[in-house]
Amino acid sequence: MYCVRSITPDILLIGGSDRRLSLFENVFPVPRGASYNAYLVLDEKTVLLDTADSAVGSHFYENLEHALQGRPLDYVVVNHMEPDHCSTLGAVLRTYPNAQVVASAKAIAMIGQFFDADVSSRCMTVKEGDTLSTGRHTFTFVMAPMVHWPEVMVTYDTTEKVLFSADAFGTFGALNGNIFADEVNFETEWLPDARRYYTNIVGKYGAQVQTLLKKAAALDIRYLCPLHGPIWRENIGWFVEKYQRWSTYTPEEKTVAIFCGSIYGNTENAAEILAACLADKGVRDVRLYDVSHTHVSELVAEAFRCSHLVFASATYNGEIYTPMDNFLRDLKSHGLRNRTVGLIENGTWAAVSGKQMAELLGTMKDMTILEGTVSLKSSVKEAQRQGLEALADVLAASLSKEEA
Ligand code: FEO
Repeated sequence: MYCVRSITPDILLIGGSDRRLSLFENVFPVPRGASYNAYLVLDEKTVLLDTADSAVGSHFYENLEHALQGRPLDYVVVNHMEPDHCSTLGAVLRTYPNAQVVASAKAIAMIGQFFDADVSSRCMTVKEGDTLSTGRHTFTFVMAPMVHWPEVMVTYDTTEKVLFSADAFGTFGALNGNIFADEVNFETEWLPDARRYYTNIVGKYGAQVQTLLKKAAALDIRYLCPLHGPIWRENIGWFVEKYQRWSTYTPEEKTVAIFCGSIYGNTENAAEILAACLADKGVRDVRLYDVSHTHVSELVAEAFRCSHLVFASATYNGEIYTPMDNFLRDLKSHGLRNRTVGLIENGTWAAVSGKQMAELLGTMKDMTILEGTVSLKSSVKEAQRQGLEALADVLAASLSKEEA
């Protein structure tokens, strides 16, 4: 049965949520599920903005048919061609053969790549600033390449001041009846997943997100309609400010996150001693993560959130311990920069993880590696305990310097 929600009298949410999905993009755990938002504008002409993942396909088709109330579908705006929004596009185009596709040139090429369909006779290729009038509504198309794929655009409804923002401003998490961000406890219950979504999906493309934010700043936005998660109609500036920070790789909190890769617990012991020393020195909200047990997508999000990072790793096969190596390479892939870093290494006969972590971090931009790497030979002894105390001093001093 259909489940259609109104955003304004003309604009309907007709997507669906998948609570059975375990891994988004077959990589990221989503214990709270995911929503695939599609929007229908009922004007003199009807306009579908994006489709949905096939996982929610049957509900989406039913919603679309119900919402159209027997009217034809005139336009399908494709803001993003990734299959989580387009795996149902082929069926929509077959069901509504007179609907015209509105998309960037790159998106139109991708339709041919994903589907055995030639849409050349029924497509309107749009570029920056092009408009489409459908009666009361006029839509302006704003290109947003690499937020998160090259074909991406966002669509601004100049009539009701709605930005259909594609992946931007999305979040993991199924919608639970409340479709607006002001109807849920977004900061406490959704922000960690919004951060994890942003940093892992578009974190690499901070410069491109900055370009989009500059374009968006010129628009009067009353509704922000992303392809995933709640819709914004209040306090939009608060969420935009988060995007401002994340896309400039500016930490949200001045504190220390310690990431440890420990085989038998000795490296973890060093990490715990460091955390306790930091707490004794007045550092608040210290976090300690075991990289073997916390999913790397959460580790990436925490590294984006915190100003100071400590990597504590065992040496393994003469290299960085595998889960830590994977995490550090993931941080590099996502373009993290501008962090202050401390290091702890361990090795029973040849500790090399500290040197190798420093080399890897040295290939990332604006990373400051603090003096005083602590080197363990199997376990913490008094000399290393003092080294950890000294590292805590250096971290605390660096935090106070930044706060001053
Ligand atoms: Fe939600 Fe880039 O797709």
